[in-house]
Amino acid sequence: MTARADLPLPSCPRVAGIHAAAASHEWMPVPSTGMTEEGVPFDTLLVDCRAATMVAGGVAYGAIEAAAVGIRDGRIAWIGPEADLPDDAASAHTDVQRLGGRWVTPGLIDCHTHLVFAGDRVGEFEARLNGATYQEIAAAGGGILSTVRATRAASLDQLIESAADRLESLKRDGVTTVEIKSGYGLDRETELKMLRAARALEGRGVRVTTTYLGLHALPPAFAGRADAYVDHVIADILPAVVAERLADAVDAYVEPIAFTPEQAERFFAAAAEHGLPAKLHAEQFSDSGGARLATRIRALSADHLEYADEAAVVAMAEAGVAAVLLPGAYVALRETRPPPVDALRRHAVAMAVATDCNPGTSPLTSLLAAMNLGCALWRLTPEEALAGTTRAAAQALGLAADRGTLEAGKRADLAVWDVSTPAELSYWLGRSRLWRRYLGGVVS
Ligand code: NIG
Ligand code: FE
Repeated sequence: MTARADLPLPSCPRVAGIHAAAASHEWMPVPSTGMTEEGVPFDTLLVDCRAATMVAGGVAYGAIEAAAVGIRDGRIAWIGPEADLPDDAASAHTDVQRLGGRWVTPGLIDCHTHLVFAGDRVGEFEARLNGATYQEIAAAGGGILSTVRATRAASLDQLIESAADRLESLKRDGVTTVEIKSGYGLDRETELKMLRAARALEGRGVRVTTTYLGLHALPPAFAGRADAYVDHVIADILPAVVAERLADAVDAYVEPIAFTPEQAERFFAAAAEHGLPAKLHAEQFSDSGGARLATRIRALSADHLEYADEAAVVAMAEAGVAAVLLPGAYVALRETRPPPVDALRRHAVAMAVATDCNPGTSPLTSLLAAMNLGCALWRLTPEEALAGTTRAAAQALGLAADRGTLEAGKRADLAVWDVSTPAELSYWLGRSRLWRRYLGGVVS
């Protein structure tokens, strides 16, 4: 197959009509590249479906009733009302698939996970229910450090297989892209092992983006020497991560029990020199300046944010930093202070929703459940929740041009659902209505 993006736009009058309809916002998806040219049909054509394109600014969910989706070379080549399909859309070689009136959405994106780790922390779960706090457990050498011990002891294959099991659960929820962080190694060998495991999962029917979580916790060998650890990360671990191209972004945990904004900023500056964008665990337990740091350095996202104030939200809006909301951690830690959803909404900050799947604070392997919790706990609308796992999640990964909405030119990563309305995706708690997933236009 050859790339079609360089081919001229077609002159077909029906196609021209589609441009006009899109411009008037009757429906939003604008086929911009690779539309059907005379004699060049789609590889796959999906018909008899409804599409929640999640394109912003038009009708709810960017919905198209009686939709069709044309796919070529793994990307969406055309999307619109089936009645407007160009005459040359299909040939004898086009695989025409009828979806029985089902809803098609962008494949879901889980933009914040710690999917690769060894062991579990069920004992801490019980201890917390008996009154211990997360911070007390961390201070006593448990918490993140207990997962660090287990992860250092695990083989690469053990890390891959245990994460693959959790990944299957995400795939059953229609996830086609997952972000995976390191951060349970805290030494060069184990951080590289975690990131290699994450990259290896790319072959398991999902796209993976990886984040080197360089500043997660202070390893015991550096006790009392946090600045020296930051030096070590910058001088010894980050270059090895970069040399193997193991990370797409970097992350740091800014919190009194973890690292200061100054330490994180030093790490982010070094990562930026290697071309790596930043994400942050910010304002989860206290207002520690993480969100303001995110805006100063133009991070992709600031995540958690329960303790972020309105000024931080305004700064995030101005800097185009996405918010990533993590209801799994909020619920598991029995938190009571919600993130500033109203302010984020008023200032039009992109609000992503993710599982934060990790063994300590969010043993959650369902992105649909995260959507439900976002609605039930924080009054996200079901449309915001779905935008949070599609369009906004893509933005939080710096991938908005490539995925996250159903638009011509984007990857044909799709989820097809047995639901009566897209709101039903957020309605069930513990039930996936996924019918089929497409990765690059192929049923997967
Ligand atoms: O996102 N910074 C915190 N990181 C995880 C928790 C990790 C853990 O406790 O293992 C979080 O909540
Ligand atoms: Fe996290």
